[in-house]
Amino acid sequence: AAGPLHDRRHRPWRDLRISLTDRCNFRCSYCMPRSRFGPGHRFLPQAQLLSFEEIAQVARQALALGVRTLRLTGGEPLLRRDLPELIRQLASLRTLDGTPPDLALTTNGSLLAAQAGELRDAGLNRLTVSLDALDDAVFQRMNDVGFPVAEVLRGLEAAQQAGFARIKVNMVVRRGTNDGEALPMAAQFRDSGMVLRFIEFMDAGCHNGWRLDEVLPSDELRARIAARWPLQPLPATRGGETAQRWQYVDGAGEIGFISSVSHAFCGDCTRARLTADGRLFTCLFAAHGHDLRNLLRGAHASESLLHDRLAAIWAGRGDAYSEQRERLRPQRPERADMHVLGG
Ligand code: GTP
Ligand code: 5AD
Ligand code: SF4
Ligand code: SF4
Repeated sequence: AAGPLHDRRHRPWRDLRISLTDRCNFRCSYCMPRSRFGPGHRFLPQAQLLSFEEIAQVARQALALGVRTLRLTGGEPLLRRDLPELIRQLASLRTLDGTPPDLALTTNGSLLAAQAGELRDAGLNRLTVSLDALDDAVFQRMNDVGFPVAEVLRGLEAAQQAGFARIKVNMVVRRGTNDGEALPMAAQFRDSGMVLRFIEFMDAGCHNGWRLDEVLPSDELRARIAARWPLQPLPATRGGETAQRWQYVDGAGEIGFISSVSHAFCGDCTRARLTADGRLFTCLFAAHGHDLRNLLRGAHASESLLHDRLAAIWAGRGDAYSEQRERLRPQRPERADMHVLGG
């Protein structure tokens, strides 16, 4: 076989993020603002979604090219019918080492209380839950559907009870909207066994009204938290990590900072994203993906053809948007939406 697969910046492919639907029951202003995603918005029709078999074919060939982590996203992935069946299929695949893939899922947590047990039983390894505030007024303004904090917390509890360990909680921080919630969130998740991660508000998609002055740089936020509870840095666990990891000096556990705006992490980015309708994106900020659905459904479809296509796409990849943001932004580049790419 040929040597290990690298892209044009010598980055290997390690993660495949798989969006299962473009639908979501939330309307977070930074992702699916109601003004744009109102009752008239047309979501993908069922026939355009990849089937579980098609998703598993792409995943199998990605694993054959060196991928180790499969992360299921949306929209909201728990809206996809029969999700445990897909998880079982993906859990039966193998990496190049012969081990099962690391199977993770990112959810808004709203439907987790009912589903956590079955997801765990089906073979899901890791769970990330988004939560932007502990205060109901702030949270409901951000999710814009009046969804209560208590129900997400109930989902987290159910997930812990189902046996998920080291659950990650993601909080997108918007200066002036929810940055006052950072300390209460830190207090809530200290000593919980869960890892809270603060995400800088990003200029994803073209419809979220992103402004640089609404980004609270991680260094500033970390100083606020460390003033209350001293922190010390932790080493990266592996290459290509999104978060900078810190721990409380008093032993209350770990927190993380995902700083795509203030400290880009493209240098060792090992991620590709598959949309629910079968396009492969090599960057979160790309305008276009590579269509795989026609290939999967074509008259000459074969897994070896798919394998070669995926290898060619990765080998041709040169993306590093976050590193080049200041140079590229003035050109107002077109970008796909975050709820389509899965974040
Ligand atoms: P782990 O495998 O647990 O490290 O997961 P992760 O941190 O890659 O996944 P998660 O879905 O929790 O990602 C957290 C957030 O980081 C995402 O929602 C995005 O906002 C952001 N993010 C993830 N990957 C990228 C990336 O490649 N580029 C940029 N700019 N942001 C990313
Ligand atoms: N900036 C930062 N994070 C975002 N997410 C969605 N849109 C944005 C944005 N504009 C996050 C969600 C969730 C993950 C899937 O992506 O909050 O944690
Ligand atoms: Fe839905 Fe997540 Fe987007 Fe919010 S950020 S609208 S929960 S997909
Ligand atoms: Fe990877 Fe693109 Fe994000 Fe950079 S901006 S880390 S290349 S997905």
